[in-house]
Amino acid sequence: MDTLILLKPDVVRKNYIGKILAKFEENGFKIKRLKMLTLNRDEASDFYSVHKNKSFFSELVDFITSGPIVAAIIEGDNAIERVRELIGSTKPSEAKIGTIRREFGSSITENAIHASDSHESFIREVRVVFPDYS
Ligand code: CMP
Repeated sequence: MDTLILLKPDVVRKNYIGKILAKFEENGFKIKRLKMLTLNRDEASDFYSVHKNKSFFSELVDFITSGPIVAAIIEGDNAIERVRELIGSTKPSEAKIGTIRREFGSSITENAIHASDSHESFIREVRVVFPDYS
């Protein structure tokens, strides 16, 4: 099973790409596709369309378009659920010790990483960053 992760601009700026990707390999996942890119506002709005009516939407779009991100398709048994566990809660200060957001995130906006929360989200999100995925 596949899922999608994005390493957000905060951790790319802080030079944590290698350390974070290593966690996926160490936990038995396969990195199937990998790409560094900068989202424009239309792509970011599309990616986060489920949040478009939220108060934090413009802050979210400002941040995710603020610099390069690293997108990866991660493969593994039960990947969606297991990757969500590995990354931890949205708010880094509430994430479990040992999770990626706890270790590398600094706020609810600058929270290091995104991962698809369901198969439907994965299908919608993957087409924004890997349009040729099938
Ligand atoms: P992510 O997993 O990328 O999915 C949506 C993002 O919105 C989430 O991580 C957070 O970075 C951000 N987010 C969620 N809730 C809030 C909030 N209450 N205030 C600001 N940002 C939020």
